[in-house]
Amino acid sequence: MRARRLWSAGVLLLVALANRAGAQMPAPKQELRLVVQADLGDVTISRHIFGHFAEHLGRCIYGGFWIQDKSGNWTYNEAVIEALRRIKVPNLRWPGGCFADYYHWRDGIGPRAQRPPMVNVVWGGVTEDNSFGTHEYMELVRRLGAEPLIVGNVGSGTVAEMAEWWEYLNHPGGSSLAELRRKNGHPEPFGVRYWGIGNESWGCGGNMSPEYYCDLLKRYATFLRPMGEVKPFIIAVGPGGEDYRWTEVVMREAGRHIAALDFHYYTINGTWEKKGSATQFGEAEWFELMQRALHIDELLTRYSAIMDHYDPRNRVALMVGEWGTWHEVEPGTNPAFLYQQNTLRDALVAALHLNLFIKHAERVRIANIAQTVNVLQAMVLTQDGKVVTTPTYHVFDMYAVHQDAVRLPIHLDAGVYRYGEAQIPAVSAAASKDASGRTHLTLVNLDPREGRTIRAEFRGRSFSRAKGRILTAPAMNAHNTFDAPNAVKPAEFTGMRFEGQELVIDLPAKSVVALELE
Ligand code: AHR
Repeated sequence: MRARRLWSAGVLLLVALANRAGAQMPAPKQELRLVVQADLGDVTISRHIFGHFAEHLGRCIYGGFWIQDKSGNWTYNEAVIEALRRIKVPNLRWPGGCFADYYHWRDGIGPRAQRPPMVNVVWGGVTEDNSFGTHEYMELVRRLGAEPLIVGNVGSGTVAEMAEWWEYLNHPGGSSLAELRRKNGHPEPFGVRYWGIGNESWGCGGNMSPEYYCDLLKRYATFLRPMGEVKPFIIAVGPGGEDYRWTEVVMREAGRHIAALDFHYYTINGTWEKKGSATQFGEAEWFELMQRALHIDELLTRYSAIMDHYDPRNRVALMVGEWGTWHEVEPGTNPAFLYQQNTLRDALVAALHLNLFIKHAERVRIANIAQTVNVLQAMVLTQDGKVVTTPTYHVFDMYAVHQDAVRLPIHLDAGVYRYGEAQIPAVSAAASKDASGRTHLTLVNLDPREGRTIRAEFRGRSFSRAKGRILTAPAMNAHNTFDAPNAVKPAEFTGMRFEGQELVIDLPAKSVVALELE
């Protein structure tokens, strides 16, 4: 008996010593496994999930896309257009947002000097001269190489007004509205097909119930007739944030009349009444923002499930027509103009969303980050003739390779990023094969403190070379300013090596990496 006790005590001592020694030795770096089915995949990643949004809000249109020259004449901001062309903008949602349900298109056509000014009551009560209207927008999307996506006015408009705008844009000739378009300088029809029937009709677009909205939706949609070659791609107002009932009712009552359901989701710190700062934050706010960004995965899963029920043939697209970070405005700027800075943290939120849109690419076929210039999570900021690209812009640049590529199935051990008692997945990934056969992998490490090593295995194809780019910076809140426009920009990525058929990737803390494999 005594011998047994002594033996047990000895074992316990050895275990305790071993544990102590273990505590003092650095834990071996855990490798996360990624499996890419490189020869499979049957879902195309619609290029339209990389879409953008431009509202008559703050300095997005006026002072952003559309500026006055030295003589006071309105003109396009060529530097903004040039920057945006590089990231291959597939579509541009316009004129709102909440503004869309206040907008009367006839005020924005014809000779500029004769257009009536309007007060933008939703966004700051500023007066605008309507110098940027239908023709200016159509010319903008032409210059960007993007498709138009127009949101019509349901909240304060009429069926006739919307149907006439549609006809003005699309009738091939022989109607009085096509004639008016010709007189205003555009004999050819514009060929606009993406068409939103109102915006956020559950809120700023009219505070409607889903049942009431569905009746209006069907009525408005009926009067958008095919014109020439163009058939309307009808976009219904979808839920905001978490609203399963809205989704359920619209799909049940109007699913067969629509081509897309437009869901909106913003990522904020704190509450809507007191959001966080874009640039002044610590790891607590970093973690909270990533956690809330990740929540869109669950929302997309649940909305897709409702849509699968009412639309088993997957005809209706789930659109994310407004998404991105929404912070407090930059100190000293007009609170109604929603002007915010954009840091490395915003770039990671964007990359995470794009990876998730790719994960849900069966349903998610259009998305628009809010908003392109000077508003919310912008691609570019402008000031006194200067243009600076944001970290988020660089993510769109790095991810453009996924546009219209075939999604490759992946299985990722995402690891864990812990903060206090809470934890979220550390890594997010997406993979695709483009039309010329090149394979692309995009990775995000959400952990701002520690890197992760990924061991990637490619099944069905073998690769021997990889090249890539990385977006990261020393500080979590690194951002580009007009004085330091390149503080955050992509650099060549060399942190990977082949070990046999496997690619070992050292993914630094708080980084986005895009790889191309041969
Ligand atoms: O993007 C800013 C506003 O957010 C839009 O006008 C509205 O649709 C949403 O609530």
